[in-house]
Amino acid sequence: MHAVHVHQLSLFLGESEALADISCCIQEGEFVAVLGPNGAGKSTFLKVLLGLLEPSRGSVRVLDRPPRQVEPQWIGYVPQAKTLDRGFPAIATELVVTGLHRSWVRRLRDSDREAALAALTLVGAAHLAERPLGSLSGGELQRIYLARALARKPRLILLDEPATGIDAVGETDFYRLLDHYRLANKATILMVTHDWEVASHHACRVMVLNHRLIGFGEPGEAMCEECLRNAYGPNKPSAGIADLRERRRA
Ligand SMILES: Nc1ncnc2c1ncn2[C@@H]1O[C@H](COP(=O)(O)OP(=O)(O)OP(=O)(O)O)[C@@H](O)[C@H]1O
Ligand SMILES: [Mg+2]
Repeated sequence: MHAVHVHQLSLFLGESEALADISCCIQEGEFVAVLGPNGAGKSTFLKVLLGLLEPSRGSVRVLDRPPRQVEPQWIGYVPQAKTLDRGFPAIATELVVTGLHRSWVRRLRDSDREAALAALTLVGAAHLAERPLGSLSGGELQRIYLARALARKPRLILLDEPATGIDAVGETDFYRLLDHYRLANKATILMVTHDWEVASHHACRVMVLNHRLIGFGEPGEAMCEECLRNAYGPNKPSAGIADLRERRRA
């Protein structure tokens, strides 16, 4: 079964075509990185898959259903912009539990605490369970959001620049745990990132997006010089995929 099946998707936001004639299939169990310049439509694409935005044209199926008919527990989402007010008087466990119930819970049940702790442990943040949200660093909060996305053991994980603010060591752990979760649960991961090296190193396939789908395939294919130039323009950084590999070897 396809985790995501998109056929000739277009979406207008106001006057501009944020997504133009996109067709792609993502297999269950794949880790796909989504690359593209600022304003390319990457977050918009995730929102279409979540059923938060309705396509202007074309068809979209997620886990073999129209997005709005997908069981909420099948999808975990880490949004790019966090709407949370850091002053909100809650602890990390309570934020994770909102991933289980889709709303804030006044009194936590033991089963909620246990599920939240399991998710926090998975992301290496069990020690933060009782910490007020306002006291967490940016990277720590990002981990709590990932725990929240994983709390219901989703089949499809949509991550919008999830590693922002996570330190270098933490980032290695972060991708290791994502891979572990994906393989253990046969889950599919779709991750927006601006980090070309991460995309080339961790993703099974890469989507290069700039309103249109410019490239989609294995990293070496989708991140070719021509695709990156088409997406980012002639002033893109010179490091193509081959250079990235060279640099890693050095
Ligand atoms: N609600 C909206 N109304 C009108 N235009 C919008 C709206 N939301 C986004 N856009 C525009 O749609 C385009 C795609 O936005 P989107 O947030 O998907 O880009 P992105 O690829 O995620 O960029 P970034 O890398 O900066 O996060 C942008 O030009 C943005 O200004
Ligand atoms: Mg975005």
